[in-house]
Amino acid sequence: MLSKPASTIRFKRLLLTGAAGNLGRELRARLPAYCDVLRVSHRSDLGAPNAGEEVMTAALEDKDAMLALLEGVDAVVHMGGVSTEQPWEPILAGNIIGAYNLYEAARKQGVKRIIFASSNHVTGFYRQDEVIDARDPVRPDGFYGLSKAFGENLAQLYFDRWGIETVSLRIGSSFPEPADRRMLATWMSFDDLERLVVASLTAPIVGHSIIYGMSDNATTWWDNKYARHIGYRPRDSSDRFREAVEARQQHIDLDDPVARYQGGGFVTKGPFD
Ligand SMILES: NC(=O)c1ccc[n+]([C@@H]2O[C@H](COP(=O)([O-])OP(=O)(O)OC[C@H]3O[C@@H](n4cnc5c(N)ncnc54)[C@H](O)[C@@H]3O)[C@@H](O)[C@H]2O)c1
Repeated sequence: MLSKPASTIRFKRLLLTGAAGNLGRELRARLPAYCDVLRVSHRSDLGAPNAGEEVMTAALEDKDAMLALLEGVDAVVHMGGVSTEQPWEPILAGNIIGAYNLYEAARKQGVKRIIFASSNHVTGFYRQDEVIDARDPVRPDGFYGLSKAFGENLAQLYFDRWGIETVSLRIGSSFPEPADRRMLATWMSFDDLERLVVASLTAPIVGHSIIYGMSDNATTWWDNKYARHIGYRPRDSSDRFREAVEARQQHIDLDDPVARYQGGGFVTKGPFD
């Protein structure tokens, strides 16, 4: 948790989806500093609300529940959905139909900004010796990455057609600490996640912007030059973990696709039948 909020701007009511997930739990603790009411949602009951919260239950594929969920909110932080490579059916329900339901509900309820948890796996089939930016063509490394690319395209359509703004966060690896050498490049601390989400919520004008979600790591495969207007300034870095990570993982097999591609282990996941 940041010792001082990253912005003085306050919202009346923010919606956080996926509030029981890994990043949802972090943001559930952090976002109350930026709003009068935090509406938290999950597919199953979250129990009693904390102070300053409203709790709602909604499966993303449930159109009516999603419409009710977005009523009266100023902006959405959308963390809900399938977050790993999985069989097609749950991805279709959560990330394709679910994203459509979210944007349709935003249009009908007049919600004007969405922070969409996209993923680095939208471009996972670029190699680890390439540095790419948000305008390079997508190269999803699986159906999960493909579904996030769909979400980004949907966001672009809803901006062009209906003026609903989105910041698509191509999140790298947001965990307490980097687990392996790949994550030395992709890691984002939870404090930097908070900075990124708050910058995306409060930047005056974003249209549909795409930004890679990472800390200020010495090694990186991503250039955020097209997202400077968001004003995200990471303050953490994976570098303090480097020695320990390299000691744990001394050998890298460059013939292993996991070590060659930016998507790491996701590039070899599946098929599931
Ligand atoms: N954690 C990371 O490093 C990382 C990296 C890249 C992208 N992301 C994205 O950020 C978001 C949050 O990630 P996370 O690590 O907290 O994932 P998570 O899996 O822990 O949380 C996602 C939540 O969404 C819920 N969910 C799944 N399908 C649903 C559906 N159909 N209806 C309603 N809820 C549903 C899950 O139950 C879960 O609680 C995800 O969209 C993920 O794809 C995360």
